[in-house]
Amino acid sequence: MRFDVITLFPELIEPYLHTGVTRRAFASGQVQVRLWPLREFAEGNYRRVDDRPFGGGPGMVMLPEPLFRCWQAVRADRGLPATRSPGAAVDVPTVLFSPAGEVLCHAVVQRWAQPTQPGAILVCGRYEGIDQRFIDACVDERISLGDFVLSGGEIAAVALLDAVARLQPGVLGDADSATQDSFHPALDGLLDCPHYTRPEVWRGPAGPVGVPPVLLSGHHAHIEAWRRQQRLLATARLRPDVLAQARQAGRLTPADERWLAQHAAEGPPGGR
Ligand code: ADE
Repeated sequence: MRFDVITLFPELIEPYLHTGVTRRAFASGQVQVRLWPLREFAEGNYRRVDDRPFGGGPGMVMLPEPLFRCWQAVRADRGLPATRSPGAAVDVPTVLFSPAGEVLCHAVVQRWAQPTQPGAILVCGRYEGIDQRFIDACVDERISLGDFVLSGGEIAAVALLDAVARLQPGVLGDADSATQDSFHPALDGLLDCPHYTRPEVWRGPAGPVGVPPVLLSGHHAHIEAWRRQQRLLATARLRPDVLAQARQAGRLTPADERWLAQHAAEGPPGGR
């Protein structure tokens, strides 16, 4: 799949494409990313990309014309007609990162991560916003990172690209497979369980602390059962909304429910 990112600050995104495990997905082309520096599509000596809002008010608004020219260039580069007639089917979706969008979650990431997806044109806004006429003409979806305001969409674009990349086959090693992550359907959408590594006894600020003995037992079935119980407890304690979703989707077994009824007040040993 291919993502074209329209941004004023490609240098914010570029390093993420070469760093960490996800770089494999970008280097192999499993997830193709092209960065489109918006300023190159602005005109005049100053290559202006923004102006004051009509009607007054604080901040600046991104001009529709450079965005539209860039968007057309992306489409042409993808071999698509430069414009889409109103009401025409969406060939490649255009996504705007905005606090007004659908909040990003595992299900949305998984949808974008399907290898059969054409990817998307990602638009990173800056300043007070984007001229609404560009949004009306070209944007198909909005994605938000949450109910807070970022200075621009670049961090949200990196978040989406990272989350999509780590779901591609072969990108994570077996040991840290995405199927073990919080929210993954393979774990019934629950939070991840607590993890421990060496030393067996850590001299922390509250004195020596061991690890749960079952993890040292070598008994895989017992370890798996313990991990399931800890996922249930962590989710009940930290994200009761996520537990309610899992329950509603019929993903909790009678044994899960019994365990929760007995232990939900305790919380996971990790605590946080
Ligand atoms: N741009 C500004 N705020 C944002 C947010 N919360 N999510 C995504 N893009 C944004």
